[in-house]
Amino acid sequence: MLDFIGKLERTHVCGELRASDAGKQVVLMGWVNRRRDHGNLIFLDLRDRTGITQVVLDRDLTPEGHAKGEAIRPEYVVAAIGRVCLREELAINPKMPTGEIEIETTELLVLNDARLAPFSPAEEAIANEEVRLKYRYVDLRRAEMQRNFAVRHRITLAIRQSLSDQGFLEIETPILTKSTPEGARDFLVPSRVHAGEFYALPQSPQIFKQILMISGFDKYFQIARCFRDEDLRADRQLEFTQVDLEMSFPQQETVFEVVEKFMVAGFAAAGVTIAAPFPRITYDESMRQFGSDKPDLRLPGLIDVRAAFTEDALTALQIDPALPVVALRIPKVGELSRKEREDNHPLFDQKKGAKFIDDFKRLAKGFPEAAAKVRELAVAADEDFVIIVAGDPAHHIHASDTKFPGRLSEREINVYLAAGNFRSELAKKYAARHGAFGVTEDVVSEANSYALGSGRLAEGTKAFQPIWVTDFPMFEYDSATHKWMPAHHPFTAPFEADMANLMSDPASVRANCYDLAMNGLELGSGSIRIHRKDVQQQIFQSLGITDEEARARFGFFLDALEYGTPPHGGIALGLDRIAMLLAGAPSLREVIAFPKTAKAIDLMVDAPTGVTEQQLRELHIRVALKS
Ligand code: AMO
Repeated sequence: MLDFIGKLERTHVCGELRASDAGKQVVLMGWVNRRRDHGNLIFLDLRDRTGITQVVLDRDLTPEGHAKGEAIRPEYVVAAIGRVCLREELAINPKMPTGEIEIETTELLVLNDARLAPFSPAEEAIANEEVRLKYRYVDLRRAEMQRNFAVRHRITLAIRQSLSDQGFLEIETPILTKSTPEGARDFLVPSRVHAGEFYALPQSPQIFKQILMISGFDKYFQIARCFRDEDLRADRQLEFTQVDLEMSFPQQETVFEVVEKFMVAGFAAAGVTIAAPFPRITYDESMRQFGSDKPDLRLPGLIDVRAAFTEDALTALQIDPALPVVALRIPKVGELSRKEREDNHPLFDQKKGAKFIDDFKRLAKGFPEAAAKVRELAVAADEDFVIIVAGDPAHHIHASDTKFPGRLSEREINVYLAAGNFRSELAKKYAARHGAFGVTEDVVSEANSYALGSGRLAEGTKAFQPIWVTDFPMFEYDSATHKWMPAHHPFTAPFEADMANLMSDPASVRANCYDLAMNGLELGSGSIRIHRKDVQQQIFQSLGITDEEARARFGFFLDALEYGTPPHGGIALGLDRIAMLLAGAPSLREVIAFPKTAKAIDLMVDAPTGVTEQQLRELHIRVALKS
């Protein structure tokens, strides 16, 4: 009887053996994916992350192995020692890479038994997500998850290599640090040594990477873990990973080139070809054309149909004539029933001061010319459904609605946003149902077959569509606090030309920042930074941060700016989001090994939890809980 400990080594992995290996003596180890008992013959599908090999236990050849095989259950860990044999013609499984061979076992070792898990990793159907997360170690054995992490690994490696080849140095920055303003809440860590004082976990390495530029590193990058205490969504986790970079003396264009290079390399590593340079669009144009600052180019855009309506028609339809009137087209769904249209209503965001018209029959009765003109402008085919979104004259937001020439006003933006959100909500619904709404069936099926691992996307595919969004406004008005807030973080440089309006008309100030969007998702965000202390102080002031507060929070940084700071800029991309897209996954949880649930809980380790009185005492903390 062979003994595993210290003696037995596997000769091959489970996805490796082919017909050309026939006759070899081998040792395979892995998990029992499935067991089939045919009396004298027991078949085990032996699985590891490379694949599955069929192992045969023949009572005549190995009575002992066969007896063990009778007791074996799924997920037992076994070693099979035997010979590679060609399968009989009829038994060949062309769907398996190892389908031409099987192992004629002479000895079987049970390395470990396994309790029956609540779901089997051999099943395609996915169990309830809470169960998956609680038994994550079992869930991660599933082929799909193994593939997701292999893809993620390859992407990360390619990006790292590309950045290194482009002259970037990878430098780590602290996890225990001071607050970084990225707009979310901080995670705080109490100090034992300094009673009543706290470290903050970094929301990003932002300030450190800028300081590394002051330190002369010229080109920095980091695959950086970030922490943000924010409400979780499919594309948001409490801790996530950024491809973070910063460079000295760049123009916006320089940053774009760097990113395009590593994105092309990263996507290639996952078998996807994307073409560089990526298209660009300004924030205002993106709003006009897509009603979003992260446009999904796979869908038909918004169409300006203001010209279809006379002033009288607008008045009669109670549409604000000063605001945009846009149409969105859902291809190929035909005329929707009243019930179907009503079902769509909850997908529209009423709060934005916008309204919509989706009853074209009625519109055509009252305003036949306008209805016909809208369909003409929208280039709508007979089987396309068209919806009009416009401003609601009854709705006002705040007095400081900007009128800066050439730029969009808050109210205009809100109408576009309402239309854009409606467009993507409807797209999700109709693309899933009909493959309609511009995400044409071939793109959907291409992306799906890709996600299922069945190979490469076609050359020139439209399944992944990156776009740079530029010229963002510097500030956003927060109607809850009645304050102007930085649209990006407060280290973003404003356009020189707009600096004069900083205090008088903040809405008109554009920022030298840019986002990278893909398929309706924000993948990354960056900017050219402020490199002068006086400008930085002015920006803090314009945000209502007092000198005192600025000193307390960023004094070290303001000081550093005075010691020879080069012009610099950079960007950070969400690595989890890139992996999610390339894995064809619906949520970040599919590409993060141990994620949190939407309620911010790690179900496997059961975190967060309480701690002992002793620990609290050491940290000088008392918990005040209202029961
Ligand atoms: P920003 O805050 O826009 O910029 O973040 C950059 C990118 O990080 C990803 N991301 C997230 N991914 C998962 N879960 C989250 N909670 C989450 N939050 C952000 C997104 C996003 O586009 N320091 C700046 C970058 C810079 O200016 O260089 C920053 O962090 O993909």
